[in-house]
Amino acid sequence: MTVDLTEPVRKPGIIPFSVGFPGLLRDPLRAFEEIGRASNGEISRVNLGVTRPYLVTRPSHVQHVLRDHAANYPREGMMWKPLTRLVGGIAAEGPEWALNRGIFQRLLSGPNIASVFDEMVRTITEGVDLLEARINPGQPMDALAEMTRIVQRAIIRVFFGNRISLSEADHLGSAIRTATRSIGFRMLLPFVPLSVPLPGDRAFQRSVRAVDEVILPLVREARRGEVAERDIVSMLIETRDEQGRGLDDQQVRDGVVAMFTAGTETTATALTWLWVVLNAHPEVASRLYAEIDTVFGRARPDRDRLQGLRYTKMVIQELLRVYSVGWIVPRTSVAEDVIDGVRIKGGSTVLISPYLTHRLDDVWPHPEVFDPDRFSVARSKKRHRFAYMAFGAGAHHCVGNLFFTVEAQLITAILLQRFRPVIQSKNPIEPQVRLTLIPRERVEIVLEPVGPR
Ligand code: HEM
Repeated sequence: MTVDLTEPVRKPGIIPFSVGFPGLLRDPLRAFEEIGRASNGEISRVNLGVTRPYLVTRPSHVQHVLRDHAANYPREGMMWKPLTRLVGGIAAEGPEWALNRGIFQRLLSGPNIASVFDEMVRTITEGVDLLEARINPGQPMDALAEMTRIVQRAIIRVFFGNRISLSEADHLGSAIRTATRSIGFRMLLPFVPLSVPLPGDRAFQRSVRAVDEVILPLVREARRGEVAERDIVSMLIETRDEQGRGLDDQQVRDGVVAMFTAGTETTATALTWLWVVLNAHPEVASRLYAEIDTVFGRARPDRDRLQGLRYTKMVIQELLRVYSVGWIVPRTSVAEDVIDGVRIKGGSTVLISPYLTHRLDDVWPHPEVFDPDRFSVARSKKRHRFAYMAFGAGAHHCVGNLFFTVEAQLITAILLQRFRPVIQSKNPIEPQVRLTLIPRERVEIVLEPVGPR
């Protein structure tokens, strides 16, 4: 890659050691926010002593890294390595990533989602029925655990056919959860070599072995049996690369785990934050309840009327602006480059963070205010395309975006047709960083039944 060095080149801003490092170990998310504020949207190097990653938050700079010069900023580095061990090629680059991405894209395409829509509605309704039967009125429940149950059920039924039983799914889900929870320090400190142990490394290794124990036998069995339609295991087994080669057991296992990991934790976490937000903003909640009531009443949701959930969609978009579940998207620069006049050295960690970009106050006025109307058509038009990055951008842009939006709207509507979730916790619920952005403590909610209408 050639860089035009005839232009005047500035040095990046520097975030001093005292701002970043001490807090990162004590309260990582707060320290990270502090670093974001100190950089004020300028490309900056964060002085962490042993290393100084670049922080890139301004939308036009993010566009440079993730789209216009993406070849110079691949997903390499210490955080991606363990993630690749968990979910395989989709978390990497190159031919294996492209092959995996193609499979996911087919599975999660608009037409495929349309064809599984009714099955999704049925499965989510069943999940909510079971929840209703299990809880006593007024009994607090763990919102994240219950959302995970409903989401897992939908993913299993829609994408795995009957290949995974619900109890296997529970087992798999909890092993994956341990893995994704123990990777937090690697995400935050992606430049620390793997030879330097970080908290969570051992738990991560153990849980990856537990995942293998569930999935590998399943893959072997599927290879011997009949190939069913539409389920991801069959699709992976049937896949051929350009030379006509198929995937081995490990690669099929990787695709399965990637689908399960990407499809459940993100969605369940986002929905848990939704209940937190609705409790904190009764005026938003009332508008949302009224819309669901007008669009569906007590009827079973159908595809045509789902388009009518405009405000619900904006609430979910604003939810992911504030609680950006995919909060960091690290890259590594290959060759030296210049972004907007600032020189970036080759071989450096470049931190892109939807969480911080969504808090730039010249891009998102009053970023601390929860305001779904930011996503009205008129207001959205005025923003830079890369201002909203909840689903990443460029070649690695989230393939599950549409599926998530449909699934989240359905779960929200089906639950709110019957209940009003009321948070029990007295203190504000703060986020903390893991692979995704999860609540720091258990979110307890009571589901209050909606009276007859
Ligand atoms: C709240 C919901 C979700 C959020 C916030 C989210 C966020 C993201 C982000 C930020 C990326 C970009 C990573 C990067 O550039 O390195 C990504 C990629 C990806 N997402 Fe999602 N995601 C969500 C839901 C889903 C769902 C439901 C699925 C699947 C059913 C999914 C599958 C994927 C896959 C396979 C990739 C990798 C794409 C690639 O590297 O080419 N995601 N997601």
